[in-house]
Amino acid sequence: MRLVLLGPPGAGKGTQAYRLAERFEAILIGTGDIFRENVKGDTPLGREAKAYMENGELVPDDVVVRMALERLEQPDAAAGFILDGFPRTLRQAQALEQELSDQDRPLSAALKFVIHDEVAVKRLAGRRTCTRCTRTYNVEFKRPSKENVCDRCGGELVQRPDDREETVRHRLEVYHRDTEPLEFFFWERGLLREVDAEGTEDEVTDRAVEAIADLAEERA
Ligand code: AP5
Repeated sequence: MRLVLLGPPGAGKGTQAYRLAERFEAILIGTGDIFRENVKGDTPLGREAKAYMENGELVPDDVVVRMALERLEQPDAAAGFILDGFPRTLRQAQALEQELSDQDRPLSAALKFVIHDEVAVKRLAGRRTCTRCTRTYNVEFKRPSKENVCDRCGGELVQRPDDREETVRHRLEVYHRDTEPLEFFFWERGLLREVDAEGTEDEVTDRAVEAIADLAEERA
């Protein structure tokens, strides 16, 4: 399965990406996670991306495309992947399409998570993220057993700098302006599928699995 997840910040893409990757035995590639690891490690890539991320802006296409395509060329991506957060602009989508066409392994589908902006804002304001394994929690909807400690790995939970409400609202504007046009791009190619992203995590997972169940047998 070669799947792209689309949807605004707070739609639950990261949450569902973990579940779908486990369920369909595909690797998960989250460009936001890769950038955050690099920011944490103070690498040249991280230093380049940091200010854009903190201000809720997109990292420039050249930087993202190079990084994402390099990741897709790793051997573990050969059997299938779920892309969370890439592509986010038409240029990125075109670059991905070209790369996969060169490798003769086209995309299976783009799954869009549909959610109202105000629900997304509320989710992000309460999000806490594990500094070690990147799993997300929510102070309202999904609390860890022990405050500020990740249930899975024991890492510390923190609020992302770009989850302040003002920055979240700006990220939503950027999404509507730069990323929403990708729906038409994928629709034109017969690849767009949609899932209602409101409801409990389990409900959304069930809908997402149903939306892509026919792709389960696809391999490299
Ligand atoms: P990235 O990390 O990709 O952030 P995002 O797309 O803005 O998505 P989020 O992680 O905010 O939301 P999500 O949909 O994954 O929701 P989640 O599952 O966490 O990107 C960050 C930055 O990196 C960008 O702004 C940009 O600067 C840069 N970047 C990355 N990729 C780039 C690219 N391709 N081009 C350019 N720049 C790029 O859930 C959110 C919260 O809701 C959590 O608390 C969760 O517990 C809760 N929740 C989830 N599902 C439910 C549910 N069903 N009910 C109740 N609560 C729920």
